[in-house]
Amino acid sequence: MSSVVVGVGGGIAAYKVAGLVRLFTEAGHDVTVVPTRAALQFVGEPTWAALSGNPVSTEVWDRVHQVNHVAVGKQADLVVIAPATADLMGRAAAGLADDLLTATLLTATCPLVFAPAMHTEMWMHPATVANVDTLRQRGAVVVEPDSGRLTGSDSGPGRLPEVEAIFRIATELLAPPDLAGLKIVVTAGGTREPIDPVRFLGNRSSGKQGYALAAAAARRGADVTLISANTSLPPPPDVAVVSVETAAQLATQVHKYATDADIIAMAAAVADFRPTEVSRVKLKKDSAAEPDTIALERNPDILLELVAARSSGQVVVGFAAETGDESAEVLEYGRKKLAAKGCDVLVVNDVSGGEVFDRHDNEVIVLDRFGGQRQYPRSDKSVVADQILDAVADYRDQD
Ligand code: CTP
Repeated sequence: MSSVVVGVGGGIAAYKVAGLVRLFTEAGHDVTVVPTRAALQFVGEPTWAALSGNPVSTEVWDRVHQVNHVAVGKQADLVVIAPATADLMGRAAAGLADDLLTATLLTATCPLVFAPAMHTEMWMHPATVANVDTLRQRGAVVVEPDSGRLTGSDSGPGRLPEVEAIFRIATELLAPPDLAGLKIVVTAGGTREPIDPVRFLGNRSSGKQGYALAAAAARRGADVTLISANTSLPPPPDVAVVSVETAAQLATQVHKYATDADIIAMAAAVADFRPTEVSRVKLKKDSAAEPDTIALERNPDILLELVAARSSGQVVVGFAAETGDESAEVLEYGRKKLAAKGCDVLVVNDVSGGEVFDRHDNEVIVLDRFGGQRQYPRSDKSVVADQILDAVADYRDQD
């Protein structure tokens, strides 16, 4: 049984959230409902108390002797906000704590899921877009709203996602601590290969999938080291972060931590080439130092090195961004890469459609050395992270 907080925002879709509370209680979870003042205009306190079987508070002034504004968040295994209104997400993004729900969000270290519902104009407004982006950068899952008929005569994106869909995502994030006792090394981000003191060869990897993987593994009880190359993401809770810049530095750190690791996940985009020479001074145009060409040399293939050095029982996970005209083609490239790299598991990402970098969501196929193939629907990178870990845990059981 997990402790689930359902935070209810002040929108008409609050009435649908009664069904969500029911799904959680029927699944055996201990549910605390924290409605905002505005939410109580739509659905009253007795409904939430009866459905959850727990007392309901809105203000930080209730049960002060129990230091409720801290206790609710600290005890939670998961906080789900539904409906997440534009105002509520704005307050959460700004770090305000003017009611029990926003205070709870500041003290919770568990996964947070926001299920938005609002009119399309509000959802598309740059202020809301920026707030959603801030929440996602901090590791929260903000579910895409459904499109369809809204409260007035309008229609478009802004409908509360079906409560069954919210429940499915939430349940994925409530995975038990099944990775306790395991050491996991994750690499994330994109390496930079210097040309001179101010320029480098880089790539467009944001590091989001690797960070989500490290966060999910730590949440599931693993001892996680994240080797991070050039990201601007906040460190995930309970994860040791080692920062690197170049492929060579990444290789040194990975090999250092890999020796006693149970699982190594190479989510980083590693530059295959680096400039043969790095100029100590800035290369200036119209100077003697102006280069005609930049000569490149190969970086080591770290994944191949890890596979060669793999100890018994160690699982090495590679990642492959592939393009193809059809998904069959992407799969074929994935299978070939799995064989060429010799890793245990390969997470294949179809990047044919463009716009894949720096997104909050992802769609992967997980292949393994025994011929296993799992295809998952497009989901938030936090949910994808749990799916990858599920696949790796199953692979370890078979190995
Ligand atoms: N990788 C690595 N060292 C490198 C390049 C890639 O460890 N020098 C790892 C990545 O972290 C990833 C996997 O190899 O887990 C696949 O990366 P990818 O760039 O797709 O593979 P390449 O071997 O470079 O293949 P391609 O020729 O398709 O780019």
